[in-house]
Amino acid sequence: MAQVLIIGASRGIGAEFVRQHLAAGDRVVATARDEGALARLRASGAGAIRLDVADMVSIAGLAWQLDGHQFDRVVHVAGLYGPRTQGLQPPSETDFDAVMHANVLGPMRVIPQILDALAPGARIGLLSSRMGSLALRANAAGWLYRASKAALNSVMKDIALSLDGRALCVSLHPGWVRTDMGGDAAEIDVQTSVAGMRRTLDELTPAHSGGFFNHDGSPLPW
Ligand SMILES: NC(=O)c1ccc[n+]([C@@H]2O[C@H](COP(=O)([O-])OP(=O)(O)OC[C@H]3O[C@@H](n4cnc5c(N)ncnc54)[C@H](OP(=O)(O)O)[C@@H]3O)[C@@H](O)[C@H]2O)c1
Repeated sequence: MAQVLIIGASRGIGAEFVRQHLAAGDRVVATARDEGALARLRASGAGAIRLDVADMVSIAGLAWQLDGHQFDRVVHVAGLYGPRTQGLQPPSETDFDAVMHANVLGPMRVIPQILDALAPGARIGLLSSRMGSLALRANAAGWLYRASKAALNSVMKDIALSLDGRALCVSLHPGWVRTDMGGDAAEIDVQTSVAGMRRTLDELTPAHSGGFFNHDGSPLPW
């Protein structure tokens, strides 16, 4: 039985990580922002912690709430798409701050809070996106979101280097997934995406740490 921490589990991909890990018999702690989601998590059998990854005060209280845990697996799922631009429409300062705070500053504050609660050899997955890849880019749609996920990949690399073999950290692309963010026209369902990412995390070796992987385990270019 593994101990698992899911950051951002109110709905979509995060909620499915919780469902699959509980079904596998793992001990799950998960975070959400609102009382309804926290109650649903508790009812499902997970431990539930209130956390807004864009709020410094909320994050500051995380480490002590994890005291005594030894997580084998941490998945940082919380994320925000922001304006659905097609071209070079400048983001407002409000949109810029909301997306960058949730997708970049959030993990930069959350991951340091969980370091003392990692089991030796723990695996950390950060939900990135192939939209953050420079090599794969064919258009500028959602350029603020793209910039945030490219920055998240940089953050992931520094986390992997700092863990120095104590634990592994990778960026994961979940596929284009049918969730509130991905929409109904997306290519894969959330069950397939999460099953693939769980398998990818299961199969990581130390040599993979600092890498960027598709949900099916294939490596992605930066
Ligand atoms: N769906 C796709 O096709 C796709 C593709 C590539 C990458 N991704 C990435 O995968 C992750 C999950 O996506 P999804 O499709 O499940 O998205 P979603 O359905 O829009 O759900 C987003 C999740 O992030 C949480 N969240 C957002 N801002 C937060 C904050 N400040 N603090 C705490 N939680 C916050 C939401 O919580 P609330 O319910 O409280 O808002 C919700 O649980 C994201 O990082 C996304 O960028 C998704």
